[in-house]
Amino acid sequence: MIDDLRLQADYCQKTSPLYAALYTYLAALYQDRADGRADPDLQGFFETVDQCWGGRRFTAWFERPLLLAGALHEQALWGHAPALSPFYASCGGFFSPSQSNAYGQAVRQVLRERHRAMVPFLSQETIQTNETSRGLAWLLPLLTHWQKARPAVTLIELGCSAGLGLVADGYGYRVHGPSEQIWAQEGDPKFEVALCGPGADHALALLADMPALSAAIRARIGCDLNPLDCRQENQKRILEALIWPDNAPRLARLRAAIKTQDQYDLCFERGDMVACVKHLSARSFADTPMVVLFNTVASCYLDDDHYAALRHAIGAVFNGPWADKDCLWVEFEMPRTDEDLPDYAQGQEQLIKLHRLDGQGGLQTDYFGAAMAHPTEIEIFQGA
Ligand SMILES: C[S@@+](CC[C@H](N)C(=O)[O-])C[C@H]1O[C@@H](n2cnc3c(N)ncnc32)[C@H](O)[C@@H]1O
Repeated sequence: MIDDLRLQADYCQKTSPLYAALYTYLAALYQDRADGRADPDLQGFFETVDQCWGGRRFTAWFERPLLLAGALHEQALWGHAPALSPFYASCGGFFSPSQSNAYGQAVRQVLRERHRAMVPFLSQETIQTNETSRGLAWLLPLLTHWQKARPAVTLIELGCSAGLGLVADGYGYRVHGPSEQIWAQEGDPKFEVALCGPGADHALALLADMPALSAAIRARIGCDLNPLDCRQENQKRILEALIWPDNAPRLARLRAAIKTQDQYDLCFERGDMVACVKHLSARSFADTPMVVLFNTVASCYLDDDHYAALRHAIGAVFNGPWADKDCLWVEFEMPRTDEDLPDYAQGQEQLIKLHRLDGQGGLQTDYFGAAMAHPTEIEIFQGA
């Protein structure tokens, strides 16, 4: 735990002075405890955490630090930790590293007074986020494909978390093309994105079809191991609490996306994405001429065998129950270690990939573009 907290403190040095201070402070508390000098006022807190995590298994080093930080943030967001609010931008406060000692004392006070209230978060929750800025990464390739015949569409998101990506066509955008052209759409949250690369002009022109595409989407289905339902106050709070408190704009985007999502009919499937694909096809869920599967930062969680099973399942559905439909699978994911990339797609953080039937019973993959995981600029490759 102490090593995990220190690693997380290092990780936050550049991006979040607030969380760098938090993890440094927590690491010192746990070190004192390991040295037999535990703060007696925090005895109850340590026992609560031990009880909550006794039967839990954590695989990644960042899970326990992020859970502790999220549990504290949740208390602040609920208004139960007024001592933290002056330091949390999400609660109207502000933090500078010179306040680290005062912040540490506020953390200590909340751990002492609120540790029992943190039990549900610490014992049940997992680190699960839903980034709202990834919409164009799947909408642009879909628009490119869709505008030829303009069919009605069934959308299925794999690894959807709270399903906020499923309504990204309803968000606001201001998209800048390479020759200073701009395409804009009203909506909340609003994203400022630049398109670059050889296919950027073409992609920008296609955005004019966004409202027509939105109208053509007949069903929006999200699949996740643990779908979060934002209409449930506690599940919404999990998403909010896991946003770092000094990133108030991201929290505002999340809240706006939740309001926008409320205007749509969504349906969720709980389970592994491979099982979901099979299950949805078996139930003839998609009764539109076009079916689009997409995933953003989700298939990266699958090991190679699992990913191969996903690719196989999707190929089998595209070739089988949905063979009479126009089927597309779009991914916005980091390159896989064994992936044989064309030169122009090398060295990118995240790739936009398009998989379609290859006419021989398998799937053919085209590389459409690339961006960072939180895209503010999207490169569109040649011929996309
Ligand atoms: C990093 S989050 C990304 C969520 C969302 N796609 C986004 O871009 O914000 C990854 C999501 O994938 C889900 N996930 C991971 N493995 C999965 C699997 N085998 N089947 C279904 N969902 C999975 C997780 O539960 C989590 O909600």
